[in-house]
Amino acid sequence: MADIDVRILENAEHRSAHDIAGAAHHNPPVSDAAWAYLRDLREPGLTLGAFRSGTLVATTHLLRSHLAVPGGSAVPMAAATGSGVRADHTRMGIFTRLKREQLALAAQQGFAIVGNIVSEATIYGRFGHGVGTMSRALRLDPRQARMRPEVPSGGDVRLIDPETSLTLLPRLYERLGPYRPGVIGRSGLWWRAKWERLVRSGKCPVVAVHAGADGDDGFVVYETRQREDSGSRVTLMVTDFHAARPEAVAGLWRFLLGLDLVEEVCVRRRPTDELVEGMLVNWRACRTHTLNDDLWLRFVDLPAALNARAYGDGDPVVLSVTDEFLPGNAGNYRVSPAGSEQTSEEAQLSVSVQALAMAYLGTTSFANLAAIGGLRVHDGKALPNADRLFGARSAAFCGTVF
Ligand SMILES: CC(C)(COP(=O)(O)OP(=O)(O)OC[C@H]1O[C@@H](n2cnc3c(N)ncnc32)[C@H](O)[C@@H]1OP(=O)(O)O)[C@@H](O)C(=O)NCCC(=O)NCCS
Repeated sequence: MADIDVRILENAEHRSAHDIAGAAHHNPPVSDAAWAYLRDLREPGLTLGAFRSGTLVATTHLLRSHLAVPGGSAVPMAAATGSGVRADHTRMGIFTRLKREQLALAAQQGFAIVGNIVSEATIYGRFGHGVGTMSRALRLDPRQARMRPEVPSGGDVRLIDPETSLTLLPRLYERLGPYRPGVIGRSGLWWRAKWERLVRSGKCPVVAVHAGADGDDGFVVYETRQREDSGSRVTLMVTDFHAARPEAVAGLWRFLLGLDLVEEVCVRRRPTDELVEGMLVNWRACRTHTLNDDLWLRFVDLPAALNARAYGDGDPVVLSVTDEFLPGNAGNYRVSPAGSEQTSEEAQLSVSVQALAMAYLGTTSFANLAAIGGLRVHDGKALPNADRLFGARSAAFCGTVF
């Protein structure tokens, strides 16, 4: 579009950008009290705006983060959020313009990957994003959900007050580190905008912390909802649950399922390989409510992203990667247990950057990609080799909303 200008916004324009994105999600303008926290989420120079005839009509911004990858290290990731186009300016190609600038900005800032939690699954594939992690939403009936005796008993679980949570939760999350592929870094700005704001609003959810032999090693955050006809019983909505060690995970589940006056425990996001059903005497007391796309990934610097992760044992594989939106990523990559390098060798598998994002953390196997037409196989023996290389011990899981 000829009359659209895209540029990085000044700090003074961030609130208008927030409201444009908010309106696109059918939210009212932000209040002064909320903005006092939310403005901190925006680092200078990381919010983009699109202007038509000098009026801001669309926006998106980036948060600094990092993404845990197989092998236990982390790669610089920009978490893209606050994206929206004014309702009277959609389907004119404005967001496509913004995405081009956003990915260029992310590359210039040294991020290898842009991550998104998406509003609709139909938007981002065209820009080269693929589902990098998945999560499971669970519903449990605590009256039926007795834990089997051999499940680790875990350590102590204690409730902490909102003020304590302001320092304890960020420290504990940091301590957990990149404990599973897909987990992302939460900056101080994230904690202030997403957690301190809730605490200061007086609507702080309940926080329970698990302590094992080496100190605090996991936490859950939950709210309660009451149906009119449920008597004194409430529904527990678990909004945040992170723990690395199996004992801490089991200890926190035991705590949640042991709470009095609870008719249902709903957990929005848990790893897909966590066998909660198997912890229970009655397997069916835990039901998968939905299986969801969690974090979508978009490679900005594919060589850096491929080199950041560790690979399993397997014969080397040569991938031909196509990337229509960022052609700089396209090329042939030789991946082996030692790492990845660009090569002129002939490709054994051809894969789009979007499909590769689905395989990057092991969420989707190359065999499954082939089965759904997500890649082209030139050499059949490369498929099992690619799966040995890219497979991960734990299912990738993000569990952070931004
Ligand atoms: C989603 C949104 C940002 C797209 O902005 P936009 O300026 O209309 O997008 P574009 O005009 O650049 O569209 C690019 C392509 O995506 C398609 N597209 C855009 N939004 C889509 C949607 N919600 N569902 C399906 N396709 C969509 C367009 O049809 C177009 O397809 P084409 O390339 O085949 O012609 C905008 O509709 C919006 O603000 N929606 C509400 C808020 C939201 O969902 N934000 C995203 C947060 S993750």
